[in-house]
Amino acid sequence: MQFDLAVLPGDGVGPEVTSQAIKVLEEVGRRFGHSFNLHHGLVGGVAIDEIESALPDDTLKMCKRCEAVLLGAVGGPKWDDPKLAVHPEDGLLALRKGLGLFANLRPVKVFPELTNSTNLKPEVISGVDLVFVRELTGGLYFARPKRQWRTSRGRWATDSMTYSEQEIERILRVGFELARSRYKRLVSVDKANVLQASRLWRQVAVEVASSYPDVELEHMLVDTCAMRLIQKPTYFDVLVTENMFGDILTDEASMLAGSMGMLPSASLAGVPKEGVNIFGMYEPIHGSAPRRAGQNLANPIATILSAAMMLRYSFGLNKEAQAVEVAVDRVLKQGYRTYDIMDEGKIKVGTKQMGDLICEKIGG
Ligand code: IPM
Ligand code: MG
Repeated sequence: MQFDLAVLPGDGVGPEVTSQAIKVLEEVGRRFGHSFNLHHGLVGGVAIDEIESALPDDTLKMCKRCEAVLLGAVGGPKWDDPKLAVHPEDGLLALRKGLGLFANLRPVKVFPELTNSTNLKPEVISGVDLVFVRELTGGLYFARPKRQWRTSRGRWATDSMTYSEQEIERILRVGFELARSRYKRLVSVDKANVLQASRLWRQVAVEVASSYPDVELEHMLVDTCAMRLIQKPTYFDVLVTENMFGDILTDEASMLAGSMGMLPSASLAGVPKEGVNIFGMYEPIHGSAPRRAGQNLANPIATILSAAMMLRYSFGLNKEAQAVEVAVDRVLKQGYRTYDIMDEGKIKVGTKQMGDLICEKIGG
């Protein structure tokens, strides 16, 4: 089969890790008989430098014509000054909103080979296999009012956590569908003891649950969830939550896996179901890591696993997605490590070598 894929390498290590993921996709194409038509575009700091916009219109239009988007990372110290009119991160938020990517899936899986390379005790993290479903186009990030103003009593600012029941329902459905395809346990994270938006969230969660009698729904307050993630992370299967809570909790959860360099993500424009291909954007959860850029150091595994998610959710290629995941597993089992997951007695490799090793292990 043939697929149109937008590639937005972005800033910092973005270009290096996306080129490894593309190499892996091309290997999948050769072994399984598919071809990927690549359409490159600008986003983030490079786009600001070139045409003074973090998300050029051409890039957005091009993404809309494709079936999926592969994104590297955006941002860097060069564009950090808060006084600048545009920031690279604006490009990412505009892409999410402009492409209707309301469902952000962030799986956290601890590879058995890496249980010793995290800050947490191996017995706590061993066997962790959870997925966060973060609402991505609403809440505090996007809702109005959102502004700063001056009064006689000084400066004020506000952001609003507003959600419609439709927005809550569709993200809950993503959580339920995912839980149904896994261990059938969904934790809905909110702050219903304080926030109105969370009370509505909880009501809608209960209503949606009636269509999923096979999935066990539990409500958990966000502060409790932050604690449980460290205390007993194996407790969780699928978690669903609003935008800001999800932003914070997924950084916390990423530490369970040892390195952010291991964690993929998918941002989807629909509810994933067996047999349905959904438009999505796929990116590693690590940032642009400017200090590591251009040195063949960055771990490309997060981006390669993001490409595997793309094969599964946007192209309906489950067997191919699994082949990539198995290949990553095999390379780790053989002891190859990038700097961020390096351990005693292991073999240190760079970005390109890691990509090559994974390509070699893809069965067809
Ligand atoms: C993330 C990032 C972004 C977010 C930033 C870069 C705008 O932290 O994807 O989690 O806050 O959503
Ligand atoms: Mg974040």
